[in-house]
Amino acid sequence: MKVLVVGGAGYIGGHTGYELVRAGHDVVVLDNLSTGNLHNVHPDARFYWGDIRNKTDITRVLTAEAADGQPVDVAMHFAAKLIVPESVSQPLAYYENNVEGLRTMLEALVDCGVRNVVFSSTAAVYGEPASGICREDDPTVPINPYGETKLACEKMIRWVAEAHGLNYCIFRYFNVAGADASLEIGLDKDQLTHLVPLVMQAALGLREKLFIFGDDYDTPDGTCVRDYIHITDLAQAHVLGAEYITSGQGSLLVNLGSGSGYSVKEVVEAAEALAHIPCEYAPRRPGDPARLTADISRARQLLGWQPKLDLATILKSDLDFRRKLNGA
Ligand SMILES: NC(=O)c1ccc[n+]([C@@H]2O[C@H](COP(=O)([O-])OP(=O)(O)OC[C@H]3O[C@@H](n4cnc5c(N)ncnc54)[C@H](O)[C@@H]3O)[C@@H](O)[C@H]2O)c1
Repeated sequence: MKVLVVGGAGYIGGHTGYELVRAGHDVVVLDNLSTGNLHNVHPDARFYWGDIRNKTDITRVLTAEAADGQPVDVAMHFAAKLIVPESVSQPLAYYENNVEGLRTMLEALVDCGVRNVVFSSTAAVYGEPASGICREDDPTVPINPYGETKLACEKMIRWVAEAHGLNYCIFRYFNVAGADASLEIGLDKDQLTHLVPLVMQAALGLREKLFIFGDDYDTPDGTCVRDYIHITDLAQAHVLGAEYITSGQGSLLVNLGSGSGYSVKEVVEAAEALAHIPCEYAPRRPGDPARLTADISRARQLLGWQPKLDLATILKSDLDFRRKLNGA
């Protein structure tokens, strides 16, 4: 397959590019480098600078890539803004980049005859589910603009697919973490908001301490429970998703998580096996549900996918990557 990875210079798009190349696919990356980095693009992939809010940036790539008689088979969309508090303070920027960006990209794909789309969505579309275990058919009630933009994108893709005969694969990710085993790529950003890299920065003395927000939730140890999935397991699911939709089996919407929940305290305890983690408890943050874990039976059943890498591997790979990054 020839795969266009839009946002392929970012964390998840970069790792997916690596897995696509390893699976023998031809990878083309389009990215505006707003939060991404060229280091994340596999050396065998072709890179084009461009912004998906400009239709000509996308059509230029699709036209250039069709010139050898092998047009793009699948477009994967990772090009979003994704920081929840920022989405609350700047909702219009989120609608513009995430929703308008996807709309423009879909228009270009339809015009250029690309019929297969893989889209990165998020567990944030579920909001605060009562049971804490999310199934794909559960109600979607986002509680922040980021989740709302992703839900709007999911709906747009489904309507456009119906009108124009596209196949889609929508993935709802849970907490993605870890680094590629080669340590060539990992989560390397100025603004880190996810638990695992924050834990490891505290371990390496790159931040004074880790704050644990809330110890009075209705969970066994009072801290929030989340579902952590290794980036490589997640990236490999994208290869399977693209192969599924291009093989005439139809479209799909599936959760990608590990199917297991760990509390913040359990994550810190597991990390303590690798290094000391200075931490301090702080009050709850608004909008943090007590428990958010994935039911992954649909991904297992439809894609034959099974996450293989556990929490210890997630933590160790992130720590090793951060050590390499900081020469520690
Ligand atoms: N990281 C997570 O834990 C997580 C969880 C759920 C969902 N997601 C989704 O996964 C996707 C990728 O997330 P990530 O963590 O890799 O983020 P990232 O910021 O590392 O990657 C996003 C990439 O898209 C590029 N980009 C953004 N806007 C663009 C535009 N208008 N035109 C061209 N390129 C643009 C950025 O430069 C960057 O390379 C996002 O859609 C996000 O919503 C991520």
